[in-house]
Amino acid sequence: MVKKDVKKKKTSKAKTKPSKAKTTMAIRGRKPEYPKIITFACNWCSYAGADLAGVSRFQYPPSLRVIRVMCAGRITPAFILDALTSGADGVIVSGCHFEDCHYISGSRKAEKIIKTTKKLMHLLGMDERRLRFELISAAEGQKFATVAREFTKEIQDITIKNNGEK
Ligand code: FES
Repeated sequence: MVKKDVKKKKTSKAKTKPSKAKTTMAIRGRKPEYPKIITFACNWCSYAGADLAGVSRFQYPPSLRVIRVMCAGRITPAFILDALTSGADGVIVSGCHFEDCHYISGSRKAEKIIKTTKKLMHLLGMDERRLRFELISAAEGQKFATVAREFTKEIQDITIKNNGEK
């Protein structure tokens, strides 16, 4: 009797073991139909906006991976290019509205950095549309969800177009 129980337990364990493909997908953290979008979000506004979008249950695709930074002005071209060359399909840098930046000029600095990075991307032969700059406050959860939906669609279109050209 005891041996039969042990055999049953082993069988049930074998059935629940995930396939290698599923494990890989979970590690990579995305469903194959969705692009991978790295979102650098300012702690004071945009990160709270992303949180509000979740709490308010605004629907947006699971393609965003949010990385919290203290200010959008902290981002450098190296962070963005590193994300894009490491497998990200797109990058969003999101900060406070210009007059709300907790470090006075961080948002404006971020805007200049984005322009510089887009020039670098052009020189490197990358599609500049893969990078987007947004100003989202803590009260704009709906805007965060809208940006996520729009940018995911745009990145999907770019990817489909690029694959079609090959
Ligand atoms: Fe939010 Fe500077 S503190 S962008």
